[in-house]
Amino acid sequence: MRYTKTAAHPPVVSLNHLSWSYGDQQILDNLNAHIQSGVFTAILGPNGSGKTTLLHLIMKHLTPEKHCVYLHTKDIRTCAAREIARMVASVPQQTATGYTFSVYEMVMMGRYPHLRRFQAEGERDREVVRSALEKTETWQLQDKLIHEISGGELQRVVIARAIAQEPDVLALDEPTSHLDPRHQIAVLSLVRRLIREEGMSVLCVLHDLNAAMQYSDHVLLLDGGRIVQSGTAQEVLTAEHIETVYGFSTSIISTASGRSFIVPAEEQYCEPTA
Ligand SMILES: Nc1ncnc2c1ncn2[C@@H]1O[C@H](COP(=O)(O)OP(=O)(O)O)[C@@H](O)[C@H]1O
Ligand SMILES: [Mg+2]
Repeated sequence: MRYTKTAAHPPVVSLNHLSWSYGDQQILDNLNAHIQSGVFTAILGPNGSGKTTLLHLIMKHLTPEKHCVYLHTKDIRTCAAREIARMVASVPQQTATGYTFSVYEMVMMGRYPHLRRFQAEGERDREVVRSALEKTETWQLQDKLIHEISGGELQRVVIARAIAQEPDVLALDEPTSHLDPRHQIAVLSLVRRLIREEGMSVLCVLHDLNAAMQYSDHVLLLDGGRIVQSGTAQEVLTAEHIETVYGFSTSIISTASGRSFIVPAEEQYCEPTA
């Protein structure tokens, strides 16, 4: 078990009685959590459970109610956009490609929160961008326009931009959903490397329960706008919790090396018709 709640891992994000409504529809209902620094926290939950809304609140794309979201110990309501961008970088579910930026220019945009107004990028900025392109295997795409690349390539470019931002927290919303299996593993392994080598903290919405089991240190399980479980992946991803929240039965298979895998239970399978 990698996750330990000790003084060495102070919270990087704190949620304090966080609620959110769109009109009269309550989306998030009294969330309380400390997201520890230097670990991979997975946010899981069915469609519509409020995961993306939660990330928007943590990045102040939506303005939270008073004293509800803290980055380190700072109330997010008192932080300017550039200050937040130096602390949290976002990899959204979808990225608009209606602009004629090159891949290189898009990744360089990650440096803007670190530059003063009208300050041109310098040697260090170019070095950080080069390194981000290499880590995400997008170096060879750098001269292409962003509407000339595939959805999976764009996802890796957006991750490169987030890395170039050198944030404390990387907030990713279903980062692997457009990626082929090799790049899914590459991205999640890269994220773990950023935690280990650069001390980043990761907050990652995932649908793949097995990816959460293999890669995360801590899991927040949302259902109907509430955190219904919080703990290690092993503690949260039990057959009972999965059945309650997702409404299907599973078996948890453990390998001799101690890894656990979630598989749909026998009765979920249909006989092939042919
Ligand atoms: N801009 C919006 N206006 C109104 N309702 C919204 C808006 N964005 C999301 N919602 C609603 O909020 C709920 C949670 O959405 P979301 O946070 O995107 O869930 P998830 O990411 O877990 O699938 C859904 O019922 C969705 O329809
Ligand atoms: Mg979502």
